[in-house]
Amino acid sequence: MSRVAYVNGRYLPRSAASVNIEDRGYQFADGIYEVCEVRGSRLVDERRHMQRLERSLNELRIRMPMSPAALRIVLRETIQRNRVVDGIVYLQITRGVARRDHAFPVTPTRPSIVVTASRLDFEKAEAVASEGIAVITVPDNRWERVDIKSVSLLPNVLAKQTAREQSAKEAWFVDDQGRVTEGSSSNAWIVTRNGKVVTRPADHSILKGITRTVVLDVMRAQGLELEERPFTVEEAYAAREAFLTSASQIVMPVVRINGRPIGNGAPGLVASALRRDFHRHAEFS
Ligand code: PDD
Repeated sequence: MSRVAYVNGRYLPRSAASVNIEDRGYQFADGIYEVCEVRGSRLVDERRHMQRLERSLNELRIRMPMSPAALRIVLRETIQRNRVVDGIVYLQITRGVARRDHAFPVTPTRPSIVVTASRLDFEKAEAVASEGIAVITVPDNRWERVDIKSVSLLPNVLAKQTAREQSAKEAWFVDDQGRVTEGSSSNAWIVTRNGKVVTRPADHSILKGITRTVVLDVMRAQGLELEERPFTVEEAYAAREAFLTSASQIVMPVVRINGRPIGNGAPGLVASALRRDFHRHAEFS
């Protein structure tokens, strides 16, 4: 079966799908994106992802290229045409095509939109989660508005590559005060020795993860105590547990940071229970 992408109003075979070389997304990373989990052919937390999409677009003054109702249909159609039961749907909107000039085009452009859907192997993901993953830390060298889900991801790309070269699955960014901000494509969490769950407040220094928001609900339901504050790398080394969250990884236990085992070096009870209960608190549509 050939895979299909939605590009500016048309469903095309992936191999034939392309964008204009003067698309501002291609030239300036002038655009935003969303990644939404698909489970059992349904979208997970679509409402919140669409809210964040609109927020990102507003922050960058890019118009929504179609009505929310039409977009809902396109997301579903793309999932169906690719026969994705479990996986992700990727949605990208850029400011559109214009003669190269850094400032916004004088005549407003039609924003470009691309939607793709891909399968994920959840059995493999469960196997990874049962072992836990290693992370490394890198200095946070990103701009100050990483709360916008922009496709401008060069520091994230370089951080993830550094992780890979050190046999780790994720890189945690660290601010100039030695405190973890977030991962290159995930939010970062620890569980302290006295059982408190700590994660950085969702200000402009992190992306406010949708998974993060739902995990806060799961925590409340499980009666876990939250401390929404920055934590240092030293604190993370001394933590009982560490984990990360994202739409594609849900809750992923972190068992090593910079080569040091966290807790007893195995996935922790808190992270495992949050992962287990996550979809009971997520919205399906
Ligand atoms: N990444 N922080 C960053 C920098 C991210 O890129 C992501 C998501 C998150 C978690 O957000 P959410 O829980 O809404 O997925 C935090 C997506 C999955 C990606 O880039 O593929």
